[in-house]
Amino acid sequence: MKTILITGGAGFIGSHVVRRFVKKYPQYKILNLDKLTYAGNLANLRDIENEPNYGFIKADIVDAERMNQIFRENNVESVIHLAAESHVDRSISNPMEFIFTNIIGTVNLLNAARIAWQDKMEDKRFYHISTDEVYGSLGETGTFLETTAYDPRSPYSASKASSDHLVRAYFHTYKLPVVISNCSNNYGPFQFPEKLIPLSINNIRNNKPIPIYGKGENIRDWLFVEDHANAIDLIFHEGKNGETYNIGGNNEWTNISLILLLCKIMDRKLGRADGTSEKLITYVKDRAGHDLRYAIDSTKIQHELGWKPSLQFEEGLDKTVDWYLENEEWMNNITSGDYQKYYENQYVKR
Ligand code: NAD
Ligand code: DAU
Repeated sequence: MKTILITGGAGFIGSHVVRRFVKKYPQYKILNLDKLTYAGNLANLRDIENEPNYGFIKADIVDAERMNQIFRENNVESVIHLAAESHVDRSISNPMEFIFTNIIGTVNLLNAARIAWQDKMEDKRFYHISTDEVYGSLGETGTFLETTAYDPRSPYSASKASSDHLVRAYFHTYKLPVVISNCSNNYGPFQFPEKLIPLSINNIRNNKPIPIYGKGENIRDWLFVEDHANAIDLIFHEGKNGETYNIGGNNEWTNISLILLLCKIMDRKLGRADGTSEKLITYVKDRAGHDLRYAIDSTKIQHELGWKPSLQFEEGLDKTVDWYLENEEWMNNITSGDYQKYYENQYVKR
């Protein structure tokens, strides 16, 4: 059985990737390595946790010796690396966690793979999952290509850019068989409610203000998380070593138009009169250094690997709202305790 180490598998995107691989590839042993930070939640994987080809290891990628040991003991043949600190606002208030996990943690995994695979690299793969934020911020026109120069502008995106450079350096210097993808904003089930869409769904349901940073004119390119997991599957199996693939939804929305659409969907689902939820929209102080616009050109993965997004945004958002409304307990478990403290610091005291 080929062993694939998936890091960050208890997080939002990681849990979709783990589920997909466990179900679709019984011939692989899927090892989920996760530190279970505030963002990691094993409840995201309840439906597959007893499958014979699934295993979980609680570990911190910042612990280099532990990474070497895990590679030695489990005969790891491939890595899909998603573990990261992922929230821009947290990177603004506490950058160091991002430096440790996103940069040092990634180098520890690269070193562990290099040591474990030094005699035979051919059938191995180190797949690093990255973000479109490394390319910086666009004006009103243009899109990010794989060749766009890096220009990260937040501690989060700078830490991800740094890890991407290190992954490429290990390809060129040590011939480590790496591949990288840079994806736009994901949405869907199991996303932690610090991010715009689940936070807004939760607040609308509870009749709380929907905080919009600045004027709500910033633009993001949204992709349904299962379409990202599908792209990761394709790149893992068919992508070329040393290459980068951009993944995006071709689906740009200003934050305010997205929230107005979400309010409409929520009014319908909650049996409220049209226009009720949008009264909750509240403009708050802008994010420091807030990137104006992201937009991905995904021509390369579409042409080379035949990938394309499967869902229209309205359909994906509708499915997402249904999931959050049907999984109230999942949300309530997360939004108690520590999250409450974070929320108060981030919004109430602003
Ligand atoms: P997430 O915050 O939901 O999950 C991150 C996971 O990593 C959690 O389970 C957490 O416990 C784990 N983790 C954090 N620090 C760790 C450490 N030191 N050791 C081991 N595990 C640790 O993140 P996400 O939104 O699922 O993003 C996953 C990856 O995809 C990240 O690398 C992110 O940069 C990238 N990405 C995210 C998006 C997006 O829209 N969410 C878009 C493009 C790329
Ligand atoms: O582009 C990919 C990136 O998308 C990923 O690399 C990150 O891990 C992921 O968190 C996401 O980053 P964003 O900063 O774009 O996502 P977030 O959901 O935090 O914010 C989306 C937009 O909404 C952004 O312009 C900021 C704004 N926003 C966000 C929050 C949480 C608000 O207006 N109000 C809010 O309360």
